[in-house]
Amino acid sequence: MNDVEAYFDEKAPEWDAHCECPGIKHMAVAHIAGVTEGSRVLDVGCGTGVMEPALFACGAKSIVALDLSEKMIEIAASKYPSMPVSFEQACVIEYATRDGIEPFDVVVIYNAYPHILEKQALVTAVCRLLTPHGRFLVAHGASKETINAHHQAVPESVTTGLNSAKEESALWRDSFDIDVLVDMPHFYCFGGMKREA
Ligand SMILES: C[S@@+](CC[C@H](N)C(=O)[O-])C[C@H]1O[C@@H](n2cnc3c(N)ncnc32)[C@H](O)[C@@H]1O
Repeated sequence: MNDVEAYFDEKAPEWDAHCECPGIKHMAVAHIAGVTEGSRVLDVGCGTGVMEPALFACGAKSIVALDLSEKMIEIAASKYPSMPVSFEQACVIEYATRDGIEPFDVVVIYNAYPHILEKQALVTAVCRLLTPHGRFLVAHGASKETINAHHQAVPESVTTGLNSAKEESALWRDSFDIDVLVDMPHFYCFGGMKREA
């Protein structure tokens, strides 16, 4: 078990008591990510499943929700027993190397980007997992200043911190047309469409 997994396993039982209830921000994230009627969606770092109601409300047909933390996945899976969502304990980078994964229309990474330490490997993984012209969105329901201040109390082996949306998105530009950049109080995101190979 690595440090990220251990950290979030420990946080899982209290997670929902401290995080935002599913609401308007999650709807905005799903919408900006490009989820529409019939989308097949990958929710990376799903935690306890905070994004799932919004993804379905925007029309997602099916969701695969991944998290490194087994404890987070256990809680998430217990909440949505009858929805077409497959919760799986996995690292997204490892998941993308598996054979036979049906590609996704949209990949959403909500509140999880600083904790996925290997950024270049993440870009490669997301690119591999998307359909041609598929979309990704990295988003946070807070500013980078708030996130970075909060992460002062998080071990260095569990977070990379967050640069501006413009700086963070630079790594993605080789494979994606970046068409969303928001860097403001209470909200942060960047995203775009997979470029034709
Ligand atoms: C801050 S939590 C956010 C959870 C949820 N998205 C939310 O907004 O409440 C970040 C999550 O990302 C997960 N995570 C970190 N690295 C991951 C990876 N490589 N693959 C999948 N999940 C990962 C962690 O286990 C953790 O549950």
